[in-house]
Amino acid sequence: MKVKDHLEDVKKRLEELREQIRYHDYRYYVLNDPEISDEAYDALFAELKELEEKYPELVTPDSPTQRVGVPPAEEFKKIRHLTPMLSLENAMNESQFNDFHDRLRRFLNLAPTHPIEYAVEPKFDGVSANLYYENGVLVWAATRGDGTEGEDITANIRTIRAVPLRFLHSETPIPQRIEVRGEVLMEKDEFLALNEEREKEGLPPFANPRNAAAGSLRQLDPNITAQRKLTFYAWGVGYVEGVNFKKHSEMLDALESWGFPVSQLRKVVMSAKDVHQYHHELEERREEFPFEMDGIVVKVNDLELQGKLGWTARAPRWAIAYKFRSQEAVTRVKSIRVQVGRSGILTPVAILEPVRVGGVIVQRATLHNESEVHRKDIRVGDYVVIHRAGDVIPEVIRSLPERRTGNETPFHMPDQCPSCGGPIVREGAYHICTNVACPAKQREYLRFFVSREGFNIEGLGPKILDRLIEHGKIHDAADLFTLTYDDIIHLEGFAEKATRNLLRNIEKAKTIPLERFLYALGIRHVGVKMARVLAEHFGTLEALMNASYDELSQIRDIGPETADAIFSFFRNKMNLEFIEKLKKVGVRIQERMREKVEKPLEGKSFVFTGELKRWTRREAQALVESLGGEVRSSVSRKTDFVVVGERPGSKYRKALQLGIKILNEEEFYELIRPYLRETLERV
Ligand code: IVH
Repeated sequence: MKVKDHLEDVKKRLEELREQIRYHDYRYYVLNDPEISDEAYDALFAELKELEEKYPELVTPDSPTQRVGVPPAEEFKKIRHLTPMLSLENAMNESQFNDFHDRLRRFLNLAPTHPIEYAVEPKFDGVSANLYYENGVLVWAATRGDGTEGEDITANIRTIRAVPLRFLHSETPIPQRIEVRGEVLMEKDEFLALNEEREKEGLPPFANPRNAAAGSLRQLDPNITAQRKLTFYAWGVGYVEGVNFKKHSEMLDALESWGFPVSQLRKVVMSAKDVHQYHHELEERREEFPFEMDGIVVKVNDLELQGKLGWTARAPRWAIAYKFRSQEAVTRVKSIRVQVGRSGILTPVAILEPVRVGGVIVQRATLHNESEVHRKDIRVGDYVVIHRAGDVIPEVIRSLPERRTGNETPFHMPDQCPSCGGPIVREGAYHICTNVACPAKQREYLRFFVSREGFNIEGLGPKILDRLIEHGKIHDAADLFTLTYDDIIHLEGFAEKATRNLLRNIEKAKTIPLERFLYALGIRHVGVKMARVLAEHFGTLEALMNASYDELSQIRDIGPETADAIFSFFRNKMNLEFIEKLKKVGVRIQERMREKVEKPLEGKSFVFTGELKRWTRREAQALVESLGGEVRSSVSRKTDFVVVGERPGSKYRKALQLGIKILNEEEFYELIRPYLRETLERV
């Protein structure tokens, strides 16, 4: 009797622990809004593990401890979906979506003015998966496969922390059986980090986050999947037994209440016009989101109407993928040019037949380095696929060898620097020109030195710099500060006024905050962020110059390579002479003494949503950061302010729900205005 009672107690405690952990996993992995500290979570988990080790007979497959630790499989077994997983028709532009809309109306015999209610949501660019639950417990998971039969990826899906192993309790009754369908994704940051890691290990990088997600999911060893931080978004259901939904939107709400991640960007709209507007809005903002989307999916919201519309052999008639402009295009490589960067690194650049990608004409794309060119087998004359996202430099993704004529020529890095003819050394994947006096290096360094994040000298574009060099007016960046009226007035395109303006800008630039000065030195691995970290930590140039390697590497955010680069930079005689020269010609570094005055937003976090009138998103972010605040991409309980522009997105809704302080653009301006004069120069 007593033993039994004890066992009952253990069972009860186990259930309590599991439920708490499930809830906290949901807060952390689905809502991005943890409620308890990592330590408190670890304590719960440790207690559960210990109890389960003591009572192995009480371990259940839906226990949070059972996500990992399964040995590798020999092969993927096949699983039959309960209902087929079909595909979607595509609409590539506005008129193709209008055709779809008209087709629906005709099929349903609706008058032209009769509204159709659509559920709209992002089209996630990932790998689709079918998750089968019985009484709220995950039983198996499969890839889409041929639509009828997929591969058994249960062990891999279990490692994705955003996927519930058991439904959370909710007001919607738990169905006896349900297929939950959605997309397995890798976030963009995670993808970049994974590729960086792979490059270090000499493994070929993944071409895009979708391939990375697919590669990570199709691992016979689920322990590898577990290391690859994947996530999941539910977009629908297949077979269901035990609940009745009337609308697609209602079904997504139910999935959300059971603990599934469902896109917060989803919406219900009443007209084709609203669909276009939603499409336009998400396309404009696609770079902002942590994961890739390649369009929106538009679904007839009423499930009864969906039933009436039915399916063709390939796809439902009640839904369509309304795609964004492609970020990829095919074009031909006319030649491969080698560029010398400011640190001497040689970068092969493909000169392309001009092609339109995502609304912009592209004529050059980076090829990174020689081994990448060889790995992707890109030859001069090849047709290639290029990719362009937002304002990042376009990239060549792969060649199309099937379109070769035989006249293509393989590429080799030159043995000598294309600019100065000096010798080239190899450092890992890089070819580097080591000649300190290399004109290309100097030119690139000058451009960098005067850039906005550096000395920020307005009116000193690349052409003018080139002319100043050609005419022997400057030999290094410090010479800019001793230019005279006579040096400039004789240059092409300069009259009296332009000359005076430029001289004034140069004079103004002589006073520079420490972080911008550090950035402008061009130390390897020291970008805008790192320069700020260093300025904040050391406060003065002298303190940084005197820092030991150990002192540097102990700073959070600084890895060994960066510490080494900084330490060596300040031990190099030429660099020290350059700094001395800058001081001699009148550069004054504003050191960071008045911490309090300079960081009025310290510790405050901001989220922006909607369009601002006064600033671009990037400028607004730079403003907040320059005042010591932080900008985040999603709203959580820890957010201090949500700044709402025109046509705000779901973040606005979430902020209202969580009761977070909301500012409109004017209010935001009022908040920062007192500090603006000081900082505008810095931004
Ligand atoms: S609904 C009957 N909604 O896109 C199929 N699919 O190109 C209903 N996808 O196979 C699909 N995001 O893997 C739907 N919000 C979304 C989606 C989505 C991505 C994928 C899905 C589908 C493919 C079709």
